[in-house]
Amino acid sequence: MRIRLQDINAQNLPYMPEILAAMGRVIQGGRFILGPEVEALEQSIAEYSGCAHAVGVASGTDALVLTLSAAGVRPGDEVITTSFTYVATAQAITHLGAKPRFVDIDPQTWCIDPAQVERAVTRRTRAILPVHLFGQMADMEPLRWLAERRGLAVIEDAAQAIGATQNGRGLASLGDMSCLSFYPTKNLGGAGDGGMILTNSAALAEKLRLLRVHGRADGYFYLLDGFNSRLDELQAAFLRVKLTGLPAYTAARQANATLYNDLLADVPFIQRPTLAPGNTHVWHQYSIVAEDRDGLREHLKTRGIDSAIFYPLPLHQQSIYRKYHRGRLPVSEHVASSILALPIAPEIVGADEVQAVASAVQEFYKQT
Ligand SMILES: Cc1ncc(COP(=O)(O)O)c(C=O)c1O
Repeated sequence: MRIRLQDINAQNLPYMPEILAAMGRVIQGGRFILGPEVEALEQSIAEYSGCAHAVGVASGTDALVLTLSAAGVRPGDEVITTSFTYVATAQAITHLGAKPRFVDIDPQTWCIDPAQVERAVTRRTRAILPVHLFGQMADMEPLRWLAERRGLAVIEDAAQAIGATQNGRGLASLGDMSCLSFYPTKNLGGAGDGGMILTNSAALAEKLRLLRVHGRADGYFYLLDGFNSRLDELQAAFLRVKLTGLPAYTAARQANATLYNDLLADVPFIQRPTLAPGNTHVWHQYSIVAEDRDGLREHLKTRGIDSAIFYPLPLHQQSIYRKYHRGRLPVSEHVASSILALPIAPEIVGADEVQAVASAVQEFYKQT
């Protein structure tokens, strides 16, 4: 049996009739950029996330760039973020001429450690950029507190965490703005690039709507030095169809994760993902920290089981970013050297597949 990590078609093809109808509607309507589909999607995702405003943009990376810009991040400013994340988190900072200040992660959740954020604040710090890694929110209360005391913006990288909550509060309720990605493999995956920004601030939403169209007010008059970062109508129409299935899809991911947690409970030499108290997790990835990770990966491969490493080298050790950091971030470094994502996507992974993967993991550690 081959157990894969992803199958984009298995996720999208069941929606084919609705998708084609939606695409037809857009083409017939003749409006392709920022029209009724984008507005309807923004409204639905704002409702789904329990927040007041949503602004569609061209990608998750752009969502980060625009939010940092809206928060006033300028060349020479510092933005504190985690080293254990996808490169886009830091690239959004450097592309504005600002400096990422990398700090370490919590050894349980693998999200940014608020105590380290506090120690990293300088007079140049403008914003904090926590990442809701793998689908659960970073510990937001202390970050909110710190930000209020020091006058900093909090921007959430929620590219992997649509639908996540913390103590009953959703995205953008503890941060000022929250950034989603619709990259095709994300929990809400599009037919190309796309992203969205969530916020409860009407003023920020208005600013972001200007920033995504060159800072343009009505006509050829410009209020801000903005960007071209628009979500298009075909993409929004596709995503509206997929959004109808998101609650069930998330529940199926959660069921797979719960089963893994049970089956892997007594396996020595591994650390299962920790669900922090008060968090609901949307399980974009089910990753374990495993001793002899590469040996385990090979063992799974011989049994036809795919796995992946998110992320093999923390950002402070990447050649492009070494200039921003001196010294070690031991937790990030350890986790990067031993993390392994197991198949969880419910369009191709059900209870039988989870059982098979968990048995193969057990078998590996019995042999060693
Ligand atoms: C944590 C994180 N941040 C940012 C991004 C960037 O999103 P996008 O690929 O839509 O630009 C991604 C996903 O690719 C991500 O996983």
